[in-house]
Amino acid sequence: MRFVIRIITNIKEMQLFASRCKTEKKAIGLVPTMGYLHQGHISLVKKSKNFAEYTVVSVFVNPTQFGPNEDFNQYPRDIERDKKLLADAGADILFLPDAKDIYPEGFQTYVEVEKISKILEGATRPIHFKGVTTIVSILFNCVKPEYAFFGQKDAQQVAVLKQMVKDLKMDIDIIACPLVREADGLALSSRNTYLEGDQRKDALVLYKSLQLGKELVEKGERKAAVITGKMKELIATVSYSELDYIQIVDTETFQLRDELKEGVEYYILIACRIGKPRLIDNIIVKA
Ligand code: PAJ
Repeated sequence: MRFVIRIITNIKEMQLFASRCKTEKKAIGLVPTMGYLHQGHISLVKKSKNFAEYTVVSVFVNPTQFGPNEDFNQYPRDIERDKKLLADAGADILFLPDAKDIYPEGFQTYVEVEKISKILEGATRPIHFKGVTTIVSILFNCVKPEYAFFGQKDAQQVAVLKQMVKDLKMDIDIIACPLVREADGLALSSRNTYLEGDQRKDALVLYKSLQLGKELVEKGERKAAVITGKMKELIATVSYSELDYIQIVDTETFQLRDELKEGVEYYILIACRIGKPRLIDNIIVKA
């Protein structure tokens, strides 16, 4: 069944709608996205529908989170397709703000989480999380949600946003949702569309290496360097792959760990270029 979805492009109109919901004590769930939606995004919409009376999905390809040599201009866009997917999923509102309203001339205020923004993704993409925390703060002020939904596909993004909400005393629950994969294990991503020919099959090496890492932990290996070393050997079997990092962090604090402790949960995180796209993936393991 396809539902009717209301499209709001004007920021004031979005804020008015949000204020009315507050008066009527109807909770809003926000799913921020950059569009070119897939079932990973849709899983967040479904989760929001279980939590809130109204689900707002924002589609905004945020220029401030892309570095100068990154894919902002080529980032895939198909708003008509997004509208249909969202209507089918039962989202209530598609918030489609204009870049010149979000970042008008003279804009000069940014939100930055200082420490966990600098490791892993932040080490390779120095301005990335500053762009993410700024746009998510702006979206929070436009949509005034009670709940905001983010995928564990971007585990560090979730950790950074939780830190932001905690530090700035924002009265919003950040809900982390499970990573959604294709049937063969490839993590869904809008950037998978960049994979050409054999690269689609070769990209599976990310998931296979994560599974190998998990197996090693389950068999009792506790040294991060041994685990990541064996994973790196597997990645190297795809000769043209360019590994950025494989690291292990504790899921609670997002701190890098060299030695795993019994009973503690960790993310094994990987970033690797397969042809054009730089792909990221992760798996949760318990030592
Ligand atoms: P985008 O990459 O479009 O992702 C939007 C949301 O969908 C994020 O919370 C992301 O973690 C989630 N997501 C993507 N792939 C997923 C998958 N395979 N399984 C589960 N969830 C998945 O992340 C961003 O946009 C931006 O940084 C944003 C937060 C919108 C700020 O601009």
